[in-house]
Amino acid sequence: MEKRISINRETCNACGLCEEICPIRIMKKDGEAGIEFRPDRLFLCIQCGQCMAICPSQSIVVDGLAYSQDFFALPAGPVAEMPFLEMIKTRRAIRVFKEQPVPRELLEKVVQAITFAPPGFIPIKTEVVVVQDTAVIRQALPEMIKVYDGLIGAMSNPVARFFIRRKIGNAKFKTVVQHVVPLMKSRLPELKQGTEDTITRYAPAMIVFHAHRDAENYEADIYIALTYGFLAAHALGLGGSAMDLIPPAIQNSPVLRKLFSIPDSNVVVGSMILGYPKYRYQRGIKRNLQSVTWI
Ligand SMILES: Cc1cc2nc3c(=O)[nH]c(=O)nc-3n(C[C@H](O)[C@H](O)[C@H](O)COP(=O)(O)O)c2cc1C
Repeated sequence: MEKRISINRETCNACGLCEEICPIRIMKKDGEAGIEFRPDRLFLCIQCGQCMAICPSQSIVVDGLAYSQDFFALPAGPVAEMPFLEMIKTRRAIRVFKEQPVPRELLEKVVQAITFAPPGFIPIKTEVVVVQDTAVIRQALPEMIKVYDGLIGAMSNPVARFFIRRKIGNAKFKTVVQHVVPLMKSRLPELKQGTEDTITRYAPAMIVFHAHRDAENYEADIYIALTYGFLAAHALGLGGSAMDLIPPAIQNSPVLRKLFSIPDSNVVVGSMILGYPKYRYQRGIKRNLQSVTWI
């Protein structure tokens, strides 16, 4: 279904923040015309509301979202001093970072927070690789692009599609067909030219989560651990996000497995990117659950 985004050109000051933070870069700042939309990307909008959360003049509107209903004023003051519920309300998935390395002490605190995540049962299965060397992330990107290039090629071949589906299962295959392939088809040209980084988002630091392939229930443990990680990052004045595009690339590339020290026995399950947020959001986003039943 075609999604619509509109701009009030009377109030928009064409600051370009929406373009910078949109995960799909649907907007494009055009000197004369102000903010334009890339028609070939509009259908990729995930209605995350980040453009509306950051717009200083409330000029951009995504269909289905309203400033009065779906957003709220953010609490004032430093995040670190807020009570927990206030703190989590101010978190956003951060994909645009300052060019500033993350000090090791902060990364250690994030890892420590991850250790407090509840495991389904003992022993702990979660293993992490903390990438504090930004050069490693930059080195990895071209290899990740190669993996996605290969995937797009394979998905156009019915035999390869059959084997991919068998390997990853129906649910993940659906995500690949509905999200990953359209996204990558649209973004690969810029990724290859080196003008945009939709995969690692030019992040200064990264944490890769993996587990032994025979361990039990490791995916649930890792996603809870990851959540502890990005909430801790936020509390520490950093920003970050889970990045599901990264694990399959590492998992399927011997070069990347080696670069990130992933043992052959292990499965790469999750990843989060980290850094200092470049921009401050004006407002928080309210979301409803699919359903809430009280019994
Ligand atoms: C499990 C998981 C995987 C994600 N993977 C990606 C990703 O690959 N690329 C990306 O840009 N954002 C990714 N995100 C971030 C979401 O898109 C983001 O949470 C969403 O846009 C809502 O924004 P908010 O977190 O600021 O509310 C991921 C988030 C989660 C929870």
